[in-house]
Amino acid sequence: MKVTAIYFSATETTKKNVLSIAKALDETINEIDVTLPKQYGGQFGRGELVIFGAPVYGGTLPEAAYDRFAAFKGDNTPCILVSTYGNRHYDNALFNMAELVKQNGFIPFAGAAVIGQHTFGKIAVGRPDNNDLTLNARFAAKAAEKLSSGDIAPYSFPGEAVEKSKGRGGRFRPQTTDACIDCGLCTAQCPTGAIASDNRTIDDNKCISCFRCIRVCPVGAKVMDTPEYNEFAVSFSQKLAEPRQNEYFL
Ligand SMILES: Cc1cc2nc3c(=O)[nH]c(=O)nc-3n(C[C@H](O)[C@H](O)[C@H](O)COP(=O)(O)O)c2cc1C
Ligand code: SF4
Ligand code: SF4
Repeated sequence: MKVTAIYFSATETTKKNVLSIAKALDETINEIDVTLPKQYGGQFGRGELVIFGAPVYGGTLPEAAYDRFAAFKGDNTPCILVSTYGNRHYDNALFNMAELVKQNGFIPFAGAAVIGQHTFGKIAVGRPDNNDLTLNARFAAKAAEKLSSGDIAPYSFPGEAVEKSKGRGGRFRPQTTDACIDCGLCTAQCPTGAIASDNRTIDDNKCISCFRCIRVCPVGAKVMDTPEYNEFAVSFSQKLAEPRQNEYFL
């Protein structure tokens, strides 16, 4: 069975979780990374398996991921959903991802709500770790068994329907320090095209606070360093210090 992994992953924790599941199913997967703002699309058949993965933003999937996933169509194609969240909660993410893919011809028969290092503060640092990846691979093996039994139906994920705009993103806008060497990487890698060609000006309406620009900067010149953010980061990190466990739905 051909396995395709389709994921949105600004800071690559979702990517790690999705690929650990996909590669446990088949080493030769087809990988479609929808993090950058491009035109996407594809059609999948009944005999294929698709894995959709997105982080949790505001208790649901990011609006950008929602729009990009909507470009893929199935024909009663089985799929596995992966929501990566920063140790607070996945809330309505799996539910809304399932509703979206069902409308587009997929059967979301299994899913995972797995932990990834939070974008903000110092929360779940280093996750997914080796233990998470092992648990993901075990889940993949069980999903494969279920699939080969032929007995698949859409799973009833917890949560409720919410507007996709709930996943639009956060309020923090990175700054650029004098260390910037104008390499353009942050601008090229922004998932929403929010950074102007001067590599500094950020469109407030487009930025989703994903912090990809900060992670990709080779010289540490993109930063989030305001008193408001720093204060929030400390208290949020304390609040979410207790590690949560992954949950698997099958
Ligand atoms: C704007 C924004 C909103 C977020 N909302 C949540 C949330 O509601 N619950 C949660 O547990 N984590 C939340 N997170 C954390 C991400 O889900 C987490 O860091 C995830 O691992 C990021 O995935 P990525 O590395 O694939 O981009 C949020 C992150 C951002 C940037
Ligand atoms: S400018 Fe905003 S949306 Fe673009 S990469 Fe940076 S934080 Fe993400
Ligand atoms: S990635 Fe860093 S160095 Fe390169 S343009 Fe952006 S801020 Fe400047």
